[in-house]
This record gives sequence, C-alpha cells and structure tokens, in this order.
Amino acid sequence: MKTQSTTLDITKASSSRISEVDFDNLAFGKHYSDHMMICDYKDGQWQTPQVLPYGPLSMDPSSKVFHYGQAVFEGMKAFKDEDDKVWLFRPEDNFKRINISAERLAMPAFPKEYFFEALETILKFDKDWIKTGKGNSLYIRPFVIGTENGVSASPSSEYKFIIICCPAKAYYSNPVKVTIAQKYSRSADGGVGYAKAAGNYAAQFYPTNLAKEKGYDQVIWTDANTHEYLEECGTMNVFFRVGDKLITAPTNDRILDGITRKSIIALAEDEGVTVEVRRVSVKEIVEAAKNGELKEIFGAGTAATIVPFLGFDFNDEYFELPQVENSYGARFKTRLQDIQYNLAEDKFNWTYEV
Ligand code: COI
Repeated sequence: MKTQSTTLDITKASSSRISEVDFDNLAFGKHYSDHMMICDYKDGQWQTPQVLPYGPLSMDPSSKVFHYGQAVFEGMKAFKDEDDKVWLFRPEDNFKRINISAERLAMPAFPKEYFFEALETILKFDKDWIKTGKGNSLYIRPFVIGTENGVSASPSSEYKFIIICCPAKAYYSNPVKVTIAQKYSRSADGGVGYAKAAGNYAAQFYPTNLAKEKGYDQVIWTDANTHEYLEECGTMNVFFRVGDKLITAPTNDRILDGITRKSIIALAEDEGVTVEVRRVSVKEIVEAAKNGELKEIFGAGTAATIVPFLGFDFNDEYFELPQVENSYGARFKTRLQDIQYNLAEDKFNWTYEV
C-alpha cells in the first residue's frame, strides 16, 4: 500500500512477520523488522528515500562494494518505556558519525532530514518489534554501500543508504575473557580506525578466531606501532578502573568516538569520579593487576552496552579481575539504561522521543 509523505516514498508491508519471532530467545542480528529504508545516490544527488517492506537486494556482481569494501555503517538503538513511548539515544551523534565515516571512505554525505524522517517512519510502523523492559531494544543498522558497476579501483559514483532494524537483547550474555594483541592490529595512524568502516570489523575476525582457539572471547587491540598501549576491545571502547580512577584511551585516528564511551565519561564525571582520558599502557595495567590496584575492566558499545571483563591474558599469563562491590561498570550501565528507558531524568538531553 503506497502512502504520501513530503520527503519519502512509502510502501507499507501488507502483513507483519512478527509472529515468526521468538522474542524470548533472540540471537543478535538474526531477525529483521517489517520495514527498511533504501535511498539511492546517482547523478550527483540522493534520490527520494523509499520506506518499503524488508527484503533482498538485487545487485550487479561488479558493484564496487564487493571488490573494494566501500562500505560504512552505524549502530543505534530504540527503546520502549512502560507507557509504550519509543526513544532513540543520542541519534544526532550517529547521524554525524556516519557522515564522518562516509567522508573518510570518499562517499557523499547523507541529508539529515532524510535520515530522521525515514527512521521515524520505520519506528512508527515497526513499533511492536520494540519490547518493553530493560535489555530489550530494536538495534538499528544504517549503512552505505558503493553500488556502481565496474571493478576499476575508484570511488563509486552510485550508492545506497539503507536502514534495517533487528530486535535485540544482550550482545554478550556473559562477562568476557580477553587477550591483549601483540602481533595483529585493528588500525593504524592515518588509517580508518575512527570510522565505522565495514573492513575494520572484517579485519578483526581472523585474530579474534585465534584468540577464541585459546579460550578468549575478544582481543584488546593495542597501538600498531609499539603494541604498548591499549586502545579498543573487539567492537567496543574499553575502560580500566585503577583504584577509584576510571581510565580510557583518547579518541584519535585509530579509535572510534564511541557514543556509549562518551556517555560513560559524562556519567562518571557527573558522579565526581576522576576520569583520565589518556594513553593507557599495557605495562601499567599489568602492574596494577599484580599489585591489586586494578579493580575492573569493561567494554562499552551500542550493541554491547557495558560488558564486564572476567580477566585478561598478556604474554600467556592470565590475570583474573576481582569481584568488586559497587562496580563502576554495573553502576554506569544502570544509570545509562535508566535514561535510555525513560526511567530517570535525562539531564544530559540524550534521549529523543519518536
Ligand atoms: C555497535 O556497538 O553498534 C557495533 O558497531 C558493534 C557491531 C559490530 C555489532
């Protein structure tokens, strides 16, 4: 059924697939809601965005994305409160970041009004896919791919900006064990580490598989030049609690400007916790683990929210983290979720009602 909108071309799904989904046993990223948005870029401009039933794409095998990985994405979440109102968390930041990532991959910026109008339309149509209760959310995946046909190694002149959504629960169901990278790297100076470029994630799969073979869930990435400084972990930013201080690496060319990361920094500072945003050396964390000063390590990201670490491996030595009372990770996760689910006052103005 076609409907009118000032900026969108809308085709509503004739029926919903929601009854096919077991919401109590959700595997992350396996089921997609009824609608998606596709907007094509050609002849130097973005065309009218289409909101339409979720379904497969038909693409030429020579499309540039398949050959050169010209692809960027975002991860964001919608939450539902007890009054059935739907909230996005800091969506402007995701919008800005996808255009920052796109610029680094030589892709055109996407218009803000298209992004928000399409997102709100999908969320209104697919509202029932968002369940109430802490831990439930609709994970939103906007992404951009180069679709021009032809394998010459040059930026695509055509793109698709797509938004799809999947109902989600916890990304990690348990605390994780990690290993510190000493050979492989996630990113380099002057590279694309700060962008949500698809290839950043693909490049992690092989070293992460090697870590898994040794019994670790994820890798803490170190700087590519010296492997002496801790940067990100898997798909997350990473925080270290040493004594009562919270330490995390500064964002730069190599490190993603995580939205959960900066929210945690703001929450911690709001509570008077000393936050140090500076380089964190492997040596200092190993020493702090040895002398008992290292209290917690946790990862932070949109999909994962906040995930506590059980311990870490360095040079084949495993350091187990203590069970602390009044854990920062647990406390900031509660505060963050209280804001996301509209259970607490949002004095930071982070939430956006759909
Ligand atoms: C996110 O937290 O949104 C991410 O980018 C992680 C994703 C690769 C699952």
